[in-house]
Amino acid sequence: MAEHADLIARLPKAELHLHIEGSFEPEMMLSLAERNRIDIPFKTLEEAKAAYNFNDLQEFLDLYYQGMNVLRTEQDFHDLTWAYLTRAKADNVRHVEMFYDPQAHTERDVGFGTVTEGILSALERGEKELGITSKLIMSFLRHLSEADGFALLEESKPWHDRFVGVGLDSSEIGHPPQKFSRLFAECRKLGFKLCMHAGEEGPPEYVREALLDIGVDRIDHGNRSMEDAALIEVLKDTQVPLTNCPLSNLSLCVIHDLKDSPVKAQLDQGLLVTVNSDDPAYFGGYIGRNYEAVDEALGLSDADIIQLARNSFVGSFLSDAEKADHLSAIDAIVA
Ligand code: ADE
Ligand code: ZN
Repeated sequence: MAEHADLIARLPKAELHLHIEGSFEPEMMLSLAERNRIDIPFKTLEEAKAAYNFNDLQEFLDLYYQGMNVLRTEQDFHDLTWAYLTRAKADNVRHVEMFYDPQAHTERDVGFGTVTEGILSALERGEKELGITSKLIMSFLRHLSEADGFALLEESKPWHDRFVGVGLDSSEIGHPPQKFSRLFAECRKLGFKLCMHAGEEGPPEYVREALLDIGVDRIDHGNRSMEDAALIEVLKDTQVPLTNCPLSNLSLCVIHDLKDSPVKAQLDQGLLVTVNSDDPAYFGGYIGRNYEAVDEALGLSDADIIQLARNSFVGSFLSDAEKADHLSAIDAIVA
């Protein structure tokens, strides 16, 4: 057990890097496959779990897109989101900023509204019944074209006031931030916050592009920034948050041992790093387990863990007043 399991459990936390489709547990996948009468390659939980063994990001993505093929109805998206929220509640998550991948659904003829309304109704219910606040981030798939991204932006227009921002995910190498520079400039004009996955597998240059050319508000992962001293200085000076995902990094061979996680070095260098779960159903743990895993591997101090929880709110898209309330709640726990 992690030395700080009790402290980790008691601290209020925000989750800033969570793909709702990546919280699709195999139990639920099997039950929705039956409900929707869809054939899937797994017959048992054991078979599903045995397949969750990845050598890189693409091997995971292939299974991730296959798994979500089972999601068809608004109720499916509601149930998926609700299951995540109840699990997050158990880890004392108070606020979540959730990615979803509409193009992975619309390209198989599941309507944008079906997906979005299912997720939003569960998020509203989560605030009422669980006290978890939330913001939704619409993510573009970077293996598709910028024109496809513009088409999604247009299709999503009736819901624009329901998203806080946009993201960029899927296969990183060969799909640099620059490929989407006009799309993200348009999103900025529309008032969206900008997030991009960068430096998960891709080189530090991709993080540099996202930060300096696109002007993102948050970098998702950002591991490979640590190879570039000048980039570390920019991250330190700008305090652009990094959403690290330790168990994801380990599962996708971004690191080969949790001892190689950059979280402690990033804290020590004054970067605004946060700990998150990414795709918890595939990577072996929700946010609490991710905190425990870095604690165990890196020997974090009480102060480090408290800093990670504070960073999760500071790095969020909440208002300054909302952030201050959450930080006071952390102070009260610590006292
Ligand atoms: N989509 C879901 N999880 C992802 C990850 N870790 N990297 C890129 N795209 C993703
Ligand atoms: Zn991610």
